[in-house]
Amino acid sequence: MEAQAASPSEGGASPRALPHLLGIEPLGIAEIQALLDTAAAFHRHAPEKLLAGCRILLLFYEASTRTRTSFEVAARRLGAETVSITAASSSIEKGESLLDTVYTLRAMAIDGIVMRHADSGAPALVARHVDVPVVNAGDGMHEHPTQALLDAFTILRHKGRIAGLKVAIIGDILHSRVARSNLWLLSRFGADVRLCGPPSLLPRAFASFAPGVSVTYRLEEALEGADVVMVLRIQMERMREAFFPSEAEYVQLYSVTADRLRQARPDAIVMHPGPMIRGVEIGAEVADSPQSVIREQVENGVLIRMAVLARLVGGRIAWP
Ligand code: NCD
Repeated sequence: MEAQAASPSEGGASPRALPHLLGIEPLGIAEIQALLDTAAAFHRHAPEKLLAGCRILLLFYEASTRTRTSFEVAARRLGAETVSITAASSSIEKGESLLDTVYTLRAMAIDGIVMRHADSGAPALVARHVDVPVVNAGDGMHEHPTQALLDAFTILRHKGRIAGLKVAIIGDILHSRVARSNLWLLSRFGADVRLCGPPSLLPRAFASFAPGVSVTYRLEEALEGADVVMVLRIQMERMREAFFPSEAEYVQLYSVTADRLRQARPDAIVMHPGPMIRGVEIGAEVADSPQSVIREQVENGVLIRMAVLARLVGGRIAWP
């Protein structure tokens, strides 16, 4: 599966060793492609003992169902042992207390850290203070690199390419780390990325983030002829004030219903990182339609996380 880079020279050098996975933004095309290829290889055959004897720490300071479970399953499928720690984000501040936790845990012979935190940059901070790989499993509004990788993997399985595809990302773009990571990845591989949401949740400046990215406040415009429709949840937990008048108005203007989906290509796929709120950002009939690949995203998440752990913790495995 080739993601077909828009410009093969851009970031196209052979992949160097990845010390950490903190975001998509710093990655070159070759590094992303190599992770996607590794996940595809693991789909055919997973090396069950690759991480035998390794211990992976899952450090989750923010709620998570699928991401934590997915990393846990991925680590175990490669033969690693996992230690899971969850904490309420509100009680722990970025800075000393976070590092204190990490220093304590370091004494437990950890081979890698998978970390989610409500503060943007927290995994990068930890990465500067430990000598094991750190994987960002979502940091505040910043990045969620494994989600973008599994989304790209899912798109490739259905469309065979990313270059030239029209991808509509709809919803709360402002607070979404999923949107940011996807924006970096999809634009790097030459997609036409259309961001859509209410103006309060989508600053126009997003259009200047990367080539091929545009902003629209009209759902019909975003959906017109789209190959991929990616719907995002409204991140209430990151809002300290009201960003839109009412849920009813949001639904009226931005909910992806079966009727509205008809504006996209008939073979368009529908994606959602979960958790999804049926009846708000997405109609139940769309979530369950044959065009929906939402469950597949979850399955592909395990393969991608296996590839990331193999690459970072296994370190020395051969590139496919
Ligand atoms: C996303 C996240 O946590 O950023 N969920 C996920 O990882 N599957 C999106 C969300 O919470 O809405």
